Amino acid sequence: MTENLPDIETPVVQVEAPFPAPMPHKGGVSLGDLQELDAHVSGMLDSIKRVVFRPDERKKAPVCNASQLASLCGRSGSAMGRLLDRAAEFGLSDGYVRDAEGKKTSAHRAFPLADAMAWIQHSGTLRYKRTSGQDGAVICVGFFKGGVGKTTIAVSLAQGLSLRGYKVLAIDLDPQGSMTTMLGRNPGAVEIGETIVPLTLPRSASDHRDELAPSIRPTYWQGVDLVAGSTGLFISEFYLPMRATSKDEAGFNFLEVLQRALVGGVREKYDYIVIDTPPALSYITMNAYWAADAVLLPVVPEGLSLQSSAQFWSMFNELAESAQKAAAEPKRYAWLGVVPSRVEAHKPGSVEMLKWLQMCYPKYLMSSHIPITEAVRTGSTEFATVYDISKYAGSAKTYERARAAFDALTTEVDLLTRREHWHAKEE
Ligand SMILES: Nc1ncnc2c1ncn2[C@@H]1O[C@H](COP(=O)(O)OP(=O)(O)O)[C@@H](O)[C@H]1O
Ligand SMILES: [Mg+2]
Repeated sequence: MTENLPDIETPVVQVEAPFPAPMPHKGGVSLGDLQELDAHVSGMLDSIKRVVFRPDERKKAPVCNASQLASLCGRSGSAMGRLLDRAAEFGLSDGYVRDAEGKKTSAHRAFPLADAMAWIQHSGTLRYKRTSGQDGAVICVGFFKGGVGKTTIAVSLAQGLSLRGYKVLAIDLDPQGSMTTMLGRNPGAVEIGETIVPLTLPRSASDHRDELAPSIRPTYWQGVDLVAGSTGLFISEFYLPMRATSKDEAGFNFLEVLQRALVGGVREKYDYIVIDTPPALSYITMNAYWAADAVLLPVVPEGLSLQSSAQFWSMFNELAESAQKAAAEPKRYAWLGVVPSRVEAHKPGSVEMLKWLQMCYPKYLMSSHIPITEAVRTGSTEFATVYDISKYAGSAKTYERARAAFDALTTEVDLLTRREHWHAKEE
């Protein structure tokens, strides 16, 4: 670590059983206090991010070793070794760093993400390639409950798909910008022109535009581009319904803004477009569901999450019904997948809850599920996913299990999309 967090005085909390000592502040909380708090917390967060992102604020993509590369390429270690011996012939990196005289500086091979991706492409891991005429698939990760793992799943899915050689666009529709943070950008530094906001502004506004392309930026993770999220997205919640009733905007359908922006370029350029949504059924979120070809719904197998999922559908259907009337075409999804998330398999009652989930969603429950895991928890303190971790400090088994779960989900999403959206022939 190149920089330490600023010194802060740790408050001494004296606890006298059974009552905790009250907080030391007195005199109530004014709006001015809250403004001060805002400035303080933002400042603290900036400091944390400076440490996390290192001084240049750039997140670094992971570097693989030879055995990680072999597993990404679907080869055994020895088969990969034989391929690596022919690296020069293929015009690819053999993983060795050499000094000016061409001598290896280390006995270990190391493959930065770009080199690893070149090998993945070369070794034909991507057996299926989207053919011309097939549109990129828009996958919306949604649910109106927070903390269920939506952002973790959306970012991991984007990275996982890119590791299979697909070109991926991530769209962050959450004003909290967690996906943006995980993809290496500070949401506080995001400008409105890098988000979807210009699409939602009134036609008469100078910043208005219908195209999404100018909002797209590359990220530290080659293969995943980003339309960022920031608190600026709140303004869209105001403009979308306003435009729907404005007489200057005849024919405007507030639901189709994102869908229209993806046609004519973006869907051609990207194989997958993964959208992360806020935990709400807002105008922006409805845009995401409307633009989506498929919906991935992370549900934690516990009572409250299951109950929320029931409420989600009744609210969704109510909104969708009125939206459908104004829409140009009947809405149809290629697939819908409910993925058990943050599963605590050893917790009493957990298997029972999974059965309930199965009974609630017999047609849509995915066969993969994401366990609650230290590997993800560790990742989140660094705003990282399992794919970011080159070297996990904890047990290798824990990491492998977590990684395998996200790999399985990526595979299932890809298989469903190939079958139901691209209508690819079974291999
Ligand atoms: N499978 C998991 N195991 C452990 N922690 C998880 C897992 N999935 C998510 N988390 C953690 O839970 C918190 C909420 O996850 P997040 O993906 O932000 O949910 P959401 O987007 O639904 O609000 C984060 O701190 C994240 O690191
Ligand atoms: Mg989120």
